[in-house]
Amino acid sequence: MQYSVSHAIYSNEIRKGQAVRRLPSVIIIGVKKCGTRALLEYMKLHPAIKAPGPEPHFFDRNYHLGLDWYRSKMPLTYDDEITVEKTPRYFVTPGVPERIFNMSNVTKLLLVTRDPVVRAMSDFTQSVSKGGNSTKVSFTSRVLRRNGKVNTHSSIVETGLYVKYMQQWLHIFGKKNIHLVSGENLINNPIEELEKVQDFIGVERKINKSAIYFNATRGFPCIYRRDKNPSHKCFGQTKGRSHIHCATQLNDLRVDSHTSYEPSSSVSEFQNCMADVLRSDLLQKIQTSCK
Ligand code: A3P
Repeated sequence: MQYSVSHAIYSNEIRKGQAVRRLPSVIIIGVKKCGTRALLEYMKLHPAIKAPGPEPHFFDRNYHLGLDWYRSKMPLTYDDEITVEKTPRYFVTPGVPERIFNMSNVTKLLLVTRDPVVRAMSDFTQSVSKGGNSTKVSFTSRVLRRNGKVNTHSSIVETGLYVKYMQQWLHIFGKKNIHLVSGENLINNPIEELEKVQDFIGVERKINKSAIYFNATRGFPCIYRRDKNPSHKCFGQTKGRSHIHCATQLNDLRVDSHTSYEPSSSVSEFQNCMADVLRSDLLQKIQTSCK
């Protein structure tokens, strides 16, 4: 199913006062467990940026419902405001780049990446906390095959093979419409990352430095808004949790930097595989394969 932008924008708009629901011009496409919720919540601190609450999952699951359905999920905005949505599954779902491109070939895409070993641990922790089969399976058995080779078909490994998915996005959108956000820096220096994001999407830098502060109890940045009640907002318990379930198996998997790892015989292949997608600029490494 294909849609044209003009059809999407001019047909059947839902109006309320001067504000209308608009298709997003900026989409956070992933990556799952890399800080996508934090990025969206920070971006909403900008007075011109609006976003829907839940992830719409339009281009991966709900495409058959059509663009009018998608637009109905968007917030009311005025002409000078920007609509942003985030659905991390877009990044790993085949066909999504083409679908977004068909909606608008100037859609700006944001991709948060993070050390893929830590990302895998975070994903594993989440699946264990949700129950299901993963409660009985160790992290190591999820990421390695019995013969010790990396299981690149395991979703918690595969999602971290950023290069693999990046190729389809670059092929359709090219570099200029895709901006990479460092998940690590989003925690350590959120304002710096947000300045780059604001520049990329073409809005004035208006996210106030004092609106994001480091909360020592949570161990993560939280949001402070004087005009809101409550004025302090940290993210829910599912964000920034300890990776307790992995801890014992993972001490030797932990990454000490983006390029060097603790020596480990049992999991060295996993580390090397993941390291391939971390080195320097992801976009320049696009020809590198992890397999
Ligand atoms: P962990 O819970 O494993 O630490 P996503 O929103 O894409 O699911 O990513 C969740 C991750 O965002 C968390 O993974 C956490 O590390 C990271 N994160 C970044 N900024 C955060 C913040 N201010 N508060 C909580 N988690 C944050």
